[in-house]
Amino acid sequence: MEIESANCKSKVSDCIDIVDLDQLSIERPLKIDVEITGLEMLVQELHRVFSYSHVNIQDVQKLMLGYKSDPKDWKKYAKYDRFRYTRNLVDEGNGAFNIMILCWGPGHASAIHDHADSHCFMKLLSGSLEEVRYDWPDNVEPEVMKKLKKKSCRRCCSESENLRNMENLSLDASDTCNNGNTSIEHTCQDAPDSCHASESDRCQNGGENGNCQDDDEYSEHYDIRSMKEIGRTRLEVNDVCYINDALGLHRMENPSYVDGAVSLHLYCPPFNSCRVFDARTGKPTEVKVTFWSMYGKKIKRVMEASDFVDGQQ
Ligand code: SIN
Repeated sequence: MEIESANCKSKVSDCIDIVDLDQLSIERPLKIDVEITGLEMLVQELHRVFSYSHVNIQDVQKLMLGYKSDPKDWKKYAKYDRFRYTRNLVDEGNGAFNIMILCWGPGHASAIHDHADSHCFMKLLSGSLEEVRYDWPDNVEPEVMKKLKKKSCRRCCSESENLRNMENLSLDASDTCNNGNTSIEHTCQDAPDSCHASESDRCQNGGENGNCQDDDEYSEHYDIRSMKEIGRTRLEVNDVCYINDALGLHRMENPSYVDGAVSLHLYCPPFNSCRVFDARTGKPTEVKVTFWSMYGKKIKRVMEASDFVDGQQ
């Protein structure tokens, strides 16, 4: 069965009965046959499509492509934080999906994360973002693979293909840190209440401070340099991309030192937590995902030190 028929109302692991894992990506250019005249109309159309029990992944992507970004539609949701990217809820999709606007200040980035067995659609509304994809680290198994292992056979795949797919999701020790390049340090280990991340140069100088050495508490179970980059895509305004756990992990980064970026994300089914991965070791940490604002209104939260540094919200 073709990708067009994969049902994104279901968890990704429930799609493996009908599609090859390999086919859960959408690489082909899509014919756009819908014109969506504003964000409000896009949300309405998504509600219509999600009112059915079966929702084609490609139909959602077409709708998102059919909308042409206009800041007047989304500026009321675009609330920035000086220190990290923000997640701003636009609509809860009647429980079937979450649609939100993410605001990225210059250099802001997310941690490497999974998508909690959900489907993730993303459209760029302003600026530019780089998506970096990773293979799953050893020792960490996505739900899709657990389900796949339990099945004695699949309708569209032979046993040997099952094994091949599983191999594709494991990885060799890779070279994330071996050339002195920058790696990502997510903040969630220190403050595991959101899925935000910041960048640091942990691997510079050959891993000084012990960051790239095989001597920390995780090394028994998680290989140093276990996160393997498998692709990079630059997203420009109105581009749409899609990922799910069968395709791997990713992080997003605003490459600009001066400009912000704004993206529209749709997750289905919605989720409240996901796993972030230490870029050096592949060690996963479950984190709650939170909103900075909901329906255009800033969420009240406990004041943090950063609020006193920068009063703008
Ligand atoms: C991303 O895809 O990097 C954004 C993750 C999020 O929803 O916070």
